[in-house]
Amino acid sequence: MLTILHKKRLLPELLQDYVDIHCHLIHDIDDGPKTLYDSYHLIKRAMELGINGFIATPHIMADMYPNTPQLISAQYDELKQHLEEKDCLPKVFKVAAEYMVDDNFEIQLNNKNLLLLSDRYVLIEFPFIQIPMNIEFIIDSLFALDYIPVLAHPERYRYFHHQGDFLTLLKQKGCKFQINALSLSTYYGNSIHKAAMHLLEEGFYSFLGTDIHNQLHLSKLSEIKVKKNVERLITPLIENTKNIFD
Ligand SMILES: [Fe+2]
Repeated sequence: MLTILHKKRLLPELLQDYVDIHCHLIHDIDDGPKTLYDSYHLIKRAMELGINGFIATPHIMADMYPNTPQLISAQYDELKQHLEEKDCLPKVFKVAAEYMVDDNFEIQLNNKNLLLLSDRYVLIEFPFIQIPMNIEFIIDSLFALDYIPVLAHPERYRYFHHQGDFLTLLKQKGCKFQINALSLSTYYGNSIHKAAMHLLEEGFYSFLGTDIHNQLHLSKLSEIKVKKNVERLITPLIENTKNIFD
């Protein structure tokens, strides 16, 4: 009996027919795959693990990856065609972006020129070093323009580890939070795993994303063993992600 209660499941078992809303799959556009061949192999292997839906989210970051919706769409079309030719097109294969909250983001926001996860959801990220000064203004502006911000991996911003109140404030404003699958392990380090488990237990998250960039990420993800209590916490997130973005 005790053995059954403590039985762990491999994470991919829980991700069958799930739609990944945060992944770097498009070739030669950010720190994800470099070539079409790399993109194809990453997607093929993810599909072999049972993940059959993807909204690819290349970075848009003014100082490192100054991608535009036009460039992203062109690369996405090329990859989609390649996947079709290889008979490897996932059930859901869409494109959006992961927006760094920087000056360029404010311009794109004001022009209402954003690539969305779906009708209203925008995937955003913050710098890892320090919290953007104007974040409350940006979040308010997003809602004023009828968008819903989804903050990628809040557990990975160390400045929040001792400033939980700020995440509470963002949550109260209606901001959604997305946990990275790899944060369920210690891949990013113990403190990030600990922060993720705390936010998970406190009910902060709405969605789960993989944030895979490469084969190593996928290998590490495939090895994650999920305890029963964690499975109970992440299953509603996986279902919610699937229901909203399928
Ligand atoms: Fe990402």
